[in-house]
Amino acid sequence: MSVILLGHQKGGVGKSTTAVNLAVALSIEMFKGDTKNILLIDADPQATLYRWSQRREDAGLISFPCIRLEGNITQQIKRESEKYEYVIVDAAGRDSREMRSAMLASDIMLMPTKASRADLELLEHMAETVEMSRDYNPNLKVGVFINMTPTNSQAEKITAKKLLKEFPEFKLMSTTISDRKAYRDSFSSAKGVHEWKDSKAKSELSCLLQEVVNVIR
Ligand SMILES: Nc1ncnc2c1ncn2[C@@H]1O[C@H](COP(=O)(O)OP(=O)(O)OP(=O)(O)O)[C@@H](O)[C@H]1O
Ligand SMILES: [Mg+2]
Repeated sequence: MSVILLGHQKGGVGKSTTAVNLAVALSIEMFKGDTKNILLIDADPQATLYRWSQRREDAGLISFPCIRLEGNITQQIKRESEKYEYVIVDAAGRDSREMRSAMLASDIMLMPTKASRADLELLEHMAETVEMSRDYNPNLKVGVFINMTPTNSQAEKITAKKLLKEFPEFKLMSTTISDRKAYRDSFSSAKGVHEWKDSKAKSELSCLLQEVVNVIR
């Protein structure tokens, strides 16, 4: 019923990592480990999400329903969302047809960003894209969160938060996700941080999930 899109024109910001971690966190925190209420849609030709889910199956872990879609995917997402409690869509790291069409069927687009100025300046283009999408999907919420922030420094985080205030199109999530090995290692093992041994990563993800759920509720 709720569609969460991970989207950004920039590659490598953590969209796929966040998609899998939100899926695992949702299943554990809301469905007692049951995964059948959560559909993963991989809308990226790189198939990162799809391959993660295949590796999960191969490893004998509880797998998530997962499909691949391409092109104009608005109607397909809407149809699928009627059958699941949550749909998580991972779009390619560029301004793709899949990202734009998914924005028309989503409740929230989550945009991970790094805290550097160069990365934050790219939000300008995304702000225009969001404005256009809202002509067709006025209820689209857009949440930006800072990802891969250094665990030992607050300075970058503070500057980024200041800069992000210049974009009224976006809601700045109060959760920031740190750069932690746990995100890379759990992904390699076809898991999420809720299934890993780093309690700080797990607690960051819980906070992000809670915020997302509150925004779309
Ligand atoms: N919080 C984090 N801490 C440490 N590493 C991270 C974190 N988030 C993402 N990464 C790593 O950064 C790299 C890029 O992440 P990811 O593949 O999720 O980005 P993406 O936005 O989906 O990229 P693409 O645009 O290519 O699809 C990966 O190696 C991933 O393991
Ligand atoms: Mg990706």
